[in-house]
Amino acid sequence: MSAPLLELSQVSYRYPDGSVGLKDCSLAIQRGSRNVLIGANGSGKTTLFQHCNALLRPQSGAVRYAGSAVDYRRAGLHELRSKVGMVFQNPDRQLFSASVQEDVSFGPLNLGLDMATVRQRVAGALQAVGMQAQADKAVHNLSFGQKKRVCIAGVLAMEPELLILDEPMAGLDYAMQTDLLTVLDGLHERGITLLVATHDIDFAYRWAERIHLMADGRCTASLNAQELGDHSQALADIGLPQPEVISLYRGLLARGLLPAVPAGPAPRCAASLLAMLAATNHPKESPCKIA
Ligand SMILES: Nc1ncnc2c1ncn2[C@@H]1O[C@H](COP(=O)(O)OP(=O)(O)OP(=O)(O)O)[C@@H](O)[C@H]1O
Ligand SMILES: [Mg+2]
Repeated sequence: MSAPLLELSQVSYRYPDGSVGLKDCSLAIQRGSRNVLIGANGSGKTTLFQHCNALLRPQSGAVRYAGSAVDYRRAGLHELRSKVGMVFQNPDRQLFSASVQEDVSFGPLNLGLDMATVRQRVAGALQAVGMQAQADKAVHNLSFGQKKRVCIAGVLAMEPELLILDEPMAGLDYAMQTDLLTVLDGLHERGITLLVATHDIDFAYRWAERIHLMADGRCTASLNAQELGDHSQALADIGLPQPEVISLYRGLLARGLLPAVPAGPAPRCAASLLAMLAATNHPKESPCKIA
């Protein structure tokens, strides 16, 4: 396997007030993969993210990007941040320009792109998050969810290699959550590596390829999502339930409503569980016919 796109090796970081942010934390993100970071409040997710684009520097241990140790000098930071885009948990930490358009333009202008390219990227990014109509609106007059959308647009306009989103769904309405997933899937298809913090184990199981568990400033396990059903204890150890669809699947197996020896892996979402049930009860029916 090639070198990970991003790698933290035994990173520790303590905040000035003595709080432990990260403690001997190791984690690897493979290029082109969809990753979720999940863990309780205060487990270190945001602190870890801040190490990924060098907003924080490890006090011990190391961060490597594309096989090289992060260069914390000015040019190195500029280079890293042009490749690693981050959407903060709190949009008020990220937005600082007067208007939506100015804010989304800031990153691409900083990359030194020409005006035509900047305009094109900004329009595309605003369209992706459904904010074209508010392009001239003052940022401070936006709702929380709208601010979040603008933050996402600002990072999309940078066209990063690695996109990190800290609890992106929090505060977004259902339609925007669905749209955001479509945007993320589109980015993944273009080869962009995605790392998303969430508290939603059902979303993590449905969406991610790799799930990284966080507790007390450490990554306690990095699992293939399709194997999550075999790691209930690792989830329980950090106070997480197993995904609902796995519980349901196990309940159906236990009641003999699904074959004891399943034909394939456990389902990742309700639709594939339904397809399994339909195939069991009506073996000739194609799963594609399930609405
Ligand atoms: N600026 C700071 N100063 C002091 N301590 C901090 C600071 N930021 C975070 N911490 C502490 O570091 C630890 C990790 O916090 P972090 O914000 O990384 O957790 P998190 O997993 O992102 O939590 P949440 O799910 O609530 O967003 C916590 O104990 C927190 O109190
Ligand atoms: Mg956080």
